[in-house]
Amino acid sequence: MTGVIKLMLDFGYALALSKAKSKARGATEEKAQIVRWRNIYGVTLIPWSLEYDFLLRRSPVYLRLTKESYESYYRKFFRVNGEASTVTTPSDEHFYRSITNTGNSFYLRPTDRAGVEHMNMAQLMNVELFPGYFFEVRGLEINHNTKEILIITRHNRRIGKGDPSYEQAKIHAMTCVSYFNVGIGHSWVHFQLPCVVSALVFNAVPRDSVLYRIMSVHTRFTMRINHQALRIRRTSNNQDKWSKRLNPFQAFAMTGNTFVENNQARTVDFYKLDGEFSAPPRLNPELPYHRFVGAYYQAIRQFIEDLGDRLELDLVDQLFTALDQYIPASLAAFDRKDLLAAFIWQVSVLHSSDHHTYYKLFRNYSCPMLRHRLEDGEPIQPAAMFDPLNVAKFENFTDVFVKFSYEEKFPNNLAHLTYGFTDPDLQAIEGRFCAELKAVEAKLEQEGLALVPLTQMAQSICF
Ligand SMILES: [Fe+2]
Repeated sequence: MTGVIKLMLDFGYALALSKAKSKARGATEEKAQIVRWRNIYGVTLIPWSLEYDFLLRRSPVYLRLTKESYESYYRKFFRVNGEASTVTTPSDEHFYRSITNTGNSFYLRPTDRAGVEHMNMAQLMNVELFPGYFFEVRGLEINHNTKEILIITRHNRRIGKGDPSYEQAKIHAMTCVSYFNVGIGHSWVHFQLPCVVSALVFNAVPRDSVLYRIMSVHTRFTMRINHQALRIRRTSNNQDKWSKRLNPFQAFAMTGNTFVENNQARTVDFYKLDGEFSAPPRLNPELPYHRFVGAYYQAIRQFIEDLGDRLELDLVDQLFTALDQYIPASLAAFDRKDLLAAFIWQVSVLHSSDHHTYYKLFRNYSCPMLRHRLEDGEPIQPAAMFDPLNVAKFENFTDVFVKFSYEEKFPNNLAHLTYGFTDPDLQAIEGRFCAELKAVEAKLEQEGLALVPLTQMAQSICF
């Protein structure tokens, strides 16, 4: 209860502060100011109307979930009913899917052996953790022929199935991947491009255009949620002190600055000139996750095509030309319709699919705060490797910030997508697009690729 009151006071304070800062710095409330902060572009002062939209239509879901998390955490903290959280050792099949059926699959690189790919997590070896916590796995070798994974340790020991340390190493690997995904791998999906496009749409695209109708849906809440993730940092601003054990969310054994530094390093890398950004996105049809998200890209691209000359291509061009001063990746090289489709796909289908698959495959099988060294041949149960309160924090973190939740009153998912067109032709095009999204979902289900339901895909980056 105290937590809820504190949260409400925090919200009131943040509201007042945000408004006062906007006025003090002379920001007009009608414009989002794009600023460079720690090498990436984003928006630090959220225009009042967007703040209001977020607090009214997005915050209620967080208030409900936060209250539930406080209650569940303090039951565990005071050992009410003997409840304690622990981690389950994943099966080999689960371990394999945690890479091939999630956003981690974007980090697989071919080796010189057919059907064998490598996932490099060497960046983890330099992440500064609090004393007594460990990241021990620097890479994985995925064999698609046998569906087995070889675990490569910090000191380059290779641990495969049959090794006495294998089960223990699997928990270490899941732990490392669970941080790698959230703290590094997923960051480009979230930051810089989505924020800058959201700001440019809000600032410069005429409100009565078809482009605005579409993009306002797919950029809604984005500047606000990214500001929260990078700068307010309710979940990542951890410290190595006892009082932080009272916080039910902070599930990473590092400071907020360390968390942000690693996130941003990857974002900058992804969007650099001749980097990895591409429209259409570069996908590998051999990988289940890529086949899944790729099917939706085709539907979105067709929708853009179907809009024909109703879509103001001059405005699309202006929007992406204005991006050039913020995003080094050479956007001029890409077809404007491809770029628009890739953006919508990234912030809706891909963003939510990264979250949902992570939630399903990591929530009960990992915890980024591991208090155990990987030791030779030692059979050990996960319960002895983690502090149960740290596991509870990770459960809360994933329940509130990884799983997509929405209020019934504000169902902002792709199953309820609408652009609010009044023109009958545009309504018909929208109707065909929404029907196609559902047809894609049905087809993927038939193929055994039902990775994420449409109800679990948010229309924009808002969590
Ligand atoms: Fe995200």
